[in-house]
Formats: sequence, structure tokens, C-alpha cells
Amino acid sequence: MNSNLHPLLQGLPLPAGPVRLRALSPSDAPAFLAYRSDPLVARFQGWPLMDEAAALAFLRDAAPAPWTVGDWAQIGIAKAEDDQLVGDIGLLLEAPGQVQIGFSLARPAQGRGWAHTAVLACLHGLLRPLQLRRVRAITDERNMPSRRLLQRLQFAETGREAVVVKGEACTDLVFERWLDQPDAID
Ligand SMILES: CC(C)(COP(=O)(O)OP(=O)(O)OC[C@H]1O[C@@H](n2cnc3c(N)ncnc32)[C@H](O)[C@@H]1OP(=O)(O)O)[C@@H](O)C(=O)NCCC(=O)NCCS
Repeated sequence: MNSNLHPLLQGLPLPAGPVRLRALSPSDAPAFLAYRSDPLVARFQGWPLMDEAAALAFLRDAAPAPWTVGDWAQIGIAKAEDDQLVGDIGLLLEAPGQVQIGFSLARPAQGRGWAHTAVLACLHGLLRPLQLRRVRAITDERNMPSRRLLQRLQFAETGREAVVVKGEACTDLVFERWLDQPDAID
């Protein structure tokens, strides 16, 4: 095991049915920029607009080691058949044993169960082995696809908070799942 590698990357690539989790790389820039600049994918995300240079820098340093509290790391979701990037998962180390998760899929990859498969693999194949047992997710209450996904993944809604995003007053829902819990469905 390479101790200079980010702990999440040590568990990659990770197969997940029609998709696989893998490290992001600068060669993903065209696909990454395409979905990150799609207004429907970006609608509830706090991303800054990125040009190609910013995307390349982001992808080059998507999961920097060491992973300390307060750091985000991003991993890629790629199609199993051709390794084409279709999305990403972001993980913020909030406290020892606790992460916040975020996820995005390119529009053509949505509505197929791929995000569910990818996040489930991340929970069980990456986070659980690293003893990251408390997983939180925060989503805009209007983001129904994200809420449905979290509910299918057995996250419980634990709170809500009023926030201002891009100048707009809205409500964030907080979801949480403990990975020690036995899995009833997945
Ligand atoms: C959130 C997001 C990743 C969800 O993607 P998704 O494709 O809807 O999620 P899933 O992988 O769970 O797919 C479920 C959908 O696929 C459908 N589906 C089709 N075939 C399926 C299959 N074989 N297995 C499972 N689901 C299938 C389901 O019916 C479901 O559709 P529904 O929600 O309309 O009922 C996506 O909407 C997205 O990227 N949004 C923009 C970014 C964002 O806002 N992220 C959340 C902030 S943290």
C-alpha cells in the first residue's frame, strides 16, 4: 500500500456494476467540464464556474494526501464499458470517522440507477474499510432526485437549515447514515 496516496485512492479502482469508481485525471477534463457546466447538474451545487485551466488544476489535485479534517477529496464515476467519466463523488472529512458526501452525474447517465450503485460502492467499499462510519449529506430541499437517492440509500433526514445560495434564500436538508447499521435493503 502506498502511504503517499490519498486513503480513498488506495481502494480504487472499485467496480460497481455498470460503473466503476476510479481516480480523476486531467484527461477527464472535457467530460468533467461538460457536466459541471450543465445548468441542470449545477443548479443546486455551490460550484464556481471553471474554465479548462481551472478544471485541469482541479483534476490534477482532486484527492491530495494527507487527508486531514476540513479537506474535500473527489473521486470519479466512470462507465465500466469504456472508462468514460460520467460523474464524481466528493467527500469532505468533517471529523475523525465522519464524512460529508456529495455526488453528481452527467445528465445522460442519470435515471439508470448508476448514482445509487456508485454511492453504495463508495459507502461499503471505500468508507467502511477506512472506519468512516458517520456519513452526512446536505441537499437543497427542492432537489428531489438527490433526496430520492439518499432515501433509497437509507439516509435519515436529521435536520434542516435556512441558507442563502447564489443570492437565493433556500432550505438545506441534512441527511445522515451510520455505516454500522445493518443494511436492510442494500
Ligand atoms: C442526484 C443525482 C446524482 C441522482 O441521479 P439519479 O440518476 O436520479 O439517481 P439514481 O442512480 O439513484 O437513479 C435513480 C433513477 O433511475 C431510475 N432507474 C432506471 N433504471 C434503473 C435501474 N436499473 N436501477 C435503479 N434505478 C433505475 C429510477 O427509477 C430513478 O428514477 P426516479 O428518481 O425518477 O424514480 C443526479 O440527479 C445529479 O447528478 N444531480 C445534479 C447534482 C446534484 O444536485 N447532486 C446532489 C447534491 S449532493
